Amino acid sequence: MDLHLTDKVALITGASRGIGKYIAEALAREGCAVGICARSEDDLNETATHIRDAYGVSVYTEVADLTQSDTPGTFVEKAAEALGGVDIYVGNVGGNLRGDFMELSDDDWDAIIDLNLKSHVRASRAAIPHIRNAGGGSICYISSIYGRELGGAGLTLYNTTKSALISMGKVMAQELAPENIRVNTVAPGSIRFPGGSWDRRVKENPEAMQAFVEENLPIGRFGRAEEVADAVAFLVSERASLITGACINIDGGQSHSLI
Ligand SMILES: NC(=O)c1ccc[n+]([C@@H]2O[C@H](COP(=O)([O-])OP(=O)(O)OC[C@H]3O[C@@H](n4cnc5c(N)ncnc54)[C@H](OP(=O)(O)O)[C@@H]3O)[C@@H](O)[C@H]2O)c1
Repeated sequence: MDLHLTDKVALITGASRGIGKYIAEALAREGCAVGICARSEDDLNETATHIRDAYGVSVYTEVADLTQSDTPGTFVEKAAEALGGVDIYVGNVGGNLRGDFMELSDDDWDAIIDLNLKSHVRASRAAIPHIRNAGGGSICYISSIYGRELGGAGLTLYNTTKSALISMGKVMAQELAPENIRVNTVAPGSIRFPGGSWDRRVKENPEAMQAFVEENLPIGRFGRAEEVADAVAFLVSERASLITGACINIDGGQSHSLI
C-alpha cells in the first residue's frame, strides 16, 4: 500500500531513541522529511545521521527540553522554517513518575503534566497553523493502554495524563475536521526495544518478566517499536482519511477495556 507520504514534512517529539525514533524512521522510509527533538544532542545527531544515510531525506534536529514552556513552539517554528512547512505532527514525548498519590508533590504533578500533556498542547498550537497552510494534514499522539484503563497503584500521574491526551485529541478532532486535519491517538501496550525500560527490566529480572509476559500478553511476547511506528505511519497518511478522533490500541491484546 502506497501511503502517499513522499515529500510530506513530519515533526516527531522525543525521537532521538525509543518509539519516537522508530516512528521518525518509518516516516522517513515513506519519503517524509522529518524534524526531531530531544535533550541529548549526541543521541539526536546519531539518529539524524542514520536516517539521512538510510533514507536520503532531510532531517532537522533541535536540542530541546519540551517541559519548558517556550521550547515546543520554538521546535515547531524552526523545523517548519528549515523543512518548508508542516504536514504531520506526532506527539510522542512522554514519561512516567511512579508514586503513591499521597506522596506526590505539586512539582511532581507539574513535571509530568508538562511532559505528557502540555508539551503536546504547545507543539500542536504551533503546528496547526502550518498544517492549515498545507491544506490539511494529521496529528497523532502517543498515549498508552493506561490512558484507556487502570494501570494500577502508583500510576496516578501516568494514567491521568495519558487519559487527558486521548481526551484532548478527541475534542481537537471534532474542531479540526472541517479543515481537513485529522487527530488520532495510539495506545501502545508493553513495547520492548534495545535500551528501553522493558528491555532493562527483562535483563534485570528475566524470570519475573517471563511470568509477566505469560500472564499479561496474549500474543506471548512484548510489542516491537516497529509495530507502533507502522501503525502511526498509516494513521497519519491519507490512506486513513476516514479515521479521526480514534484511539487505536497497539498491544497484542494486552488491554482489557471494552471501549
Ligand atoms: N515503551 C513502552 O512500553 C510504552 C508503552 C506505552 C506508551 N509509551 C509511550 O510512548 C512514548 C515513547 O516512549 P519510549 O518508551 O520510547 O520512551 P523513551 O525510550 O524514554 O524515549 C523518550 C524519548 O523522548 C526524549 N525525551 C524525554 N524527555 C524529554 C524532554 N523533557 N524533552 C525532550 N525530549 C525528551 C528522549 O530523549 P532525551 O532523554 O535525550 O531527552 C527520547 O528520545 C511515551 O509517550 C510513552 O509514554 C511507551
